[in-house]
Amino acid sequence: MMRIGMLTSGGDCQSLNATMRGVAKALYRMFDDVEIIGFEDGYKGLIYADYRIMDRREFSGILTKGGTILGTSRQPFKQMRIPDENGLDKVEAMKHTYRKLKLECLVVLGGNGSQKTANLLREEGLNVVSLPKTIDNDLWGTDVTFGFQSAINVATNAIDCIHTTAASHGRVFIVEVMGHKVGWLTLYAGIAGGADIILLPEIPYDMNVIVKALQMRNKQGKRFSILAVAEGAISKEDALLTKKELKEKKKNGPVYPSVAYEIGAQITERTGQEVRVTVPGHMQRGGEPCPYDRVLSTRLGAEAALLIKNKDYGNMVAVKNNEIVKIPLQEIAGKLKTVDPDCSLVKEAKMIGISFGDE
Ligand code: F6P
Repeated sequence: MMRIGMLTSGGDCQSLNATMRGVAKALYRMFDDVEIIGFEDGYKGLIYADYRIMDRREFSGILTKGGTILGTSRQPFKQMRIPDENGLDKVEAMKHTYRKLKLECLVVLGGNGSQKTANLLREEGLNVVSLPKTIDNDLWGTDVTFGFQSAINVATNAIDCIHTTAASHGRVFIVEVMGHKVGWLTLYAGIAGGADIILLPEIPYDMNVIVKALQMRNKQGKRFSILAVAEGAISKEDALLTKKELKEKKKNGPVYPSVAYEIGAQITERTGQEVRVTVPGHMQRGGEPCPYDRVLSTRLGAEAALLIKNKDYGNMVAVKNNEIVKIPLQEIAGKLKTVDPDCSLVKEAKMIGISFGDE
């Protein structure tokens, strides 16, 4: 009997179940005697031995189901080496669970932090295979992560809905898109939704430039403007500050629920225009996976199973030029894939008149 552990970790996304299904279906076909152990709520389940032996029927009928049948939780990488409130060594506990269950391999579906922990477990001698999950698309080493396209659909749909009401009232609308550190989702949804101004963490904005872009639209007779703003959008002045200085500045200034409200207040103050803010929030991680993600998850899942069959451990399956490849975990752990401000997509968007608030 071969036993494979599986967990989903970090923020969820639409295509986690589709991916687990891909891994499981391929494994059940490859081996006659495989048992999948599902850990509840991510690494938490591995730490506290909270698991269940999966019935293979659990992997049927979940291709289109958002969320994760295993549950998930955030277990920050930087706290992995810190004992829990009862003094438990989490890393040792995870190794203990793995060994006690006599696992052949641990399959991890996760984003950046989860991949770092997967790499730590590899360094500690466990067999690990991981898969690239996140709506943020910020995992280094893969062209695309599963969940990203589905989230683009939701965020784009939000901007589409805003378009009609913005046109009726002649207002400025800001749609805040998920992404604290990277702006992939905002960039794609912003372009797909026809936003006039797109603000990304990677391209600090100048409020004067935003105001000019809005005034220009007014002059052209456009009744409304739409901004797609990433959660982590930052002004040029703030981008120059250290983390500590920025915290201090925010503490002493007006308090806003999020960056979109701050930008909105500044726009009203500078232009007198009426601004409305929409934050689709966790809707962007919800609902069913789009067909692209279902296909991607199926491919990644099958190839992850193949890595297990070949005992090719310590890798993440990834997409390179539409092919599924493997990347050693130590090469990806701790690296972010950010938007290059000079990339062709940004240049092309600028060519059609989209402002990024920078020039
Ligand atoms: O990492 C995915 C993500 O959805 C980010 O885009 C977002 O900033 C964050 O998670 C939200 O986290 P939480 O679900 O913990 O509020």
